[in-house]
Amino acid sequence: MKFFVDTAQVDEIRELNELGLVDGVTTNPSLILKSGRDITEVTKEICDLVDGPVSAEVTATDYDGMMAEAAVLRKIAENICVKLPLTLDGLKACKALSAKDVPVNVTLCFSANQALLAAKAGATFISPFIGRLDDMAIDGMELIEEIRTIYDTYQFKTEILAASIRSVGHVKQAALIGADVATVPPGVLRALASHPLTDKGLAAFLADWEKTGQKIS
Ligand code: G3P
Repeated sequence: MKFFVDTAQVDEIRELNELGLVDGVTTNPSLILKSGRDITEVTKEICDLVDGPVSAEVTATDYDGMMAEAAVLRKIAENICVKLPLTLDGLKACKALSAKDVPVNVTLCFSANQALLAAKAGATFISPFIGRLDDMAIDGMELIEEIRTIYDTYQFKTEILAASIRSVGHVKQAALIGADVATVPPGVLRALASHPLTDKGLAAFLADWEKTGQKIS
């Protein structure tokens, strides 16, 4: 399973990348707003830091506008993946860009039928939003399961990118179901490594080690 980091905060990305935890990055207009940075500048910096795909989202809602913005975003760096909303125009743009081998992440997916359409349009990634479904008391993980079944049945190559992840539990469940990628906020990515028994066990080992008076040298 690949981990993308879901942020436009360059410092966070740098730190997590140095830990070897980052296979790619996803951004969206809200994350760009949160960064307080210019989209082109910040996206370029992220692309320079990370080897994997960096999703940058269009804001046009019509096909021609999306195609024009996609061309601008693609000029930022080789590893740009164009993020398109799951609308009819978005699907049309997905089909056109995929035909030209441009990587596309189709976002704001909330149903299995939407995911089916994105795969048929040649999407590289489909982004089902788990947390936002959970917010409405609908099981977001059920959607991941349904998409996994459909994609496996028809052998679609589109990768399932579990998005709107809010907890370590979400990551575990998405991994168990077989999502190809999870895009994870920095705090949740760090939290994956922590367990109270690890901390407790380490403290006990270090205390005993101190008592031995030894040094590893
Ligand atoms: O990857 C999509 C993500 O940024 C949305 O997350 O928490 O705003 O639903 P959230």
